[in-house]
Amino acid sequence: MLPGALMAQQKSTVTVTAKADAPTISKHIYGHFSEHLGRCIYDGFYVGENSAIPNTKGVRNDIIAALKDLGIPNLRWPGGCFADTYHWKDGIGPKNQRPTIVNQWWGGVTEDNSFGTHDFLDLCEVLDTEPYLAANVGSGTVQEFTEWIQYVNHGGKSPMSDLRKKNNRETPWGVKFWGVGNEAWGCGGNMTAEHYANLYRQYATFMTDWSNTGELFRIASGANVADYHWTEVLMREIPKSLLDGVALHSYSFVTWEKKGSSTKFDESQYFETMKTALKMEELVTKHTEIMDKYDPKKKVALVVDEWGGWYDVEEGTNPGFLYQQNTMRDAMIAGTTLNTFNNHSDRVRMANLAQTVNVLQAVILTKGDKMLLTPTYHVMKLYKVHQDAKQLPVTLETPEYKFGNESLPAVSVSASQKEGKTHISLVNIDSKQKITTEIKLEGLNLKDFTAKIITSGKLQDCNTFENPTAITPKDFKDFKFKKGVLSVTLPPFSVVVLEGK
Ligand code: AHR
Repeated sequence: MLPGALMAQQKSTVTVTAKADAPTISKHIYGHFSEHLGRCIYDGFYVGENSAIPNTKGVRNDIIAALKDLGIPNLRWPGGCFADTYHWKDGIGPKNQRPTIVNQWWGGVTEDNSFGTHDFLDLCEVLDTEPYLAANVGSGTVQEFTEWIQYVNHGGKSPMSDLRKKNNRETPWGVKFWGVGNEAWGCGGNMTAEHYANLYRQYATFMTDWSNTGELFRIASGANVADYHWTEVLMREIPKSLLDGVALHSYSFVTWEKKGSSTKFDESQYFETMKTALKMEELVTKHTEIMDKYDPKKKVALVVDEWGGWYDVEEGTNPGFLYQQNTMRDAMIAGTTLNTFNNHSDRVRMANLAQTVNVLQAVILTKGDKMLLTPTYHVMKLYKVHQDAKQLPVTLETPEYKFGNESLPAVSVSASQKEGKTHISLVNIDSKQKITTEIKLEGLNLKDFTAKIITSGKLQDCNTFENPTAITPKDFKDFKFKKGVLSVTLPPFSVVVLEGK
């Protein structure tokens, strides 16, 4: 550890500039993902109507309240890899007559299909969030897919709307976001980009919202991390009239083979994880460059519909369930990744953190009737202010966070403006050094500032069922504003969100 005086010398410089024609940061960047995986749906969201745990139509009330408070703009379901095994008709009608499904990707468990289309879409209504349905391409058919759309969206008389009404739902839900398969390069069918592009064209041709209003938002299964060939082929081969979004999946970990514990990690593992997390900036930039070539007007969105930290499962839990704890390391991943998305809001217009409850970088963990909010939840809640706000361009000069012979940019920033308020979100990923950040505000007439911080004593700190509020946002006062320059001292591994008026 360096002496305090030396630590205080670390400085970064930021400018935030007012810009009249700046893009809007789509609220959909702050989306979530709920797969039939481990304890995300069953024994997570869904405990069943007869559970002693207070619930609404079988979904835990404490989870509903927490997600409403978080303001989640969209929720992706039912997968993931599970999506390409899912046959939606098995999940409608009387629950005691539904067939079972064996979850072939995640633990081989037998599910009773008691959580199906009505359960999910009714939940989205309760949460006031937009559903994002990932439909089965890998083991489904065009007909099955288009009938699902008719079932949930058709307002007139049709075979599928009649079936929906028979199942006690008169009005359609009006689902806009549709994923055409998932990870077609892997669990979705091990396809080549060329093959998938053709298949996508076929599926998209028959996708209609059944009212000719053109309201569907069709998302192609996208690249795995830096597979730029995949994006190139999709953008080149699919007519833009059939395409609204191209997905991208990228997870953060120490190494894919040796992910390590979610809580018992050392600094080298922290550094490696942050290296993969910060790679998002390069991924988004390069995939965008390819998309710009074929779509200079940026009609097609880059949809990062799976991102987050991925570690070994908690000891004693099913390896197929992907249950992990969530520490300050995850807060760092969330803060830096969301800054990247905000700064690329002209192309990145939708994203989904994986996953919402009890799986991977969850915002909520449950154990019996207990529930806790993770540090990632608190970061996303602080960043909520950026949803549908005007993106403000930023420049950044930052010291490096050094480890061994390697280094990473220590500070990350994004800024936005909404309803007369300016918000600046800053992250310092350095594990030891505090960093004083001087923020120059150009064309912004701000006088009063308040701020919140998320930090803790150790990187490995987390919220537990014994101490669920160990890490929560606190008021932050370590900043001063003089002659148009805001000077903020960021503690090691901290996330700070400033509000200026
Ligand atoms: O989120 C877990 C899994 O990761 C998803 O099912 C899949 O799409 C990805 O490989």
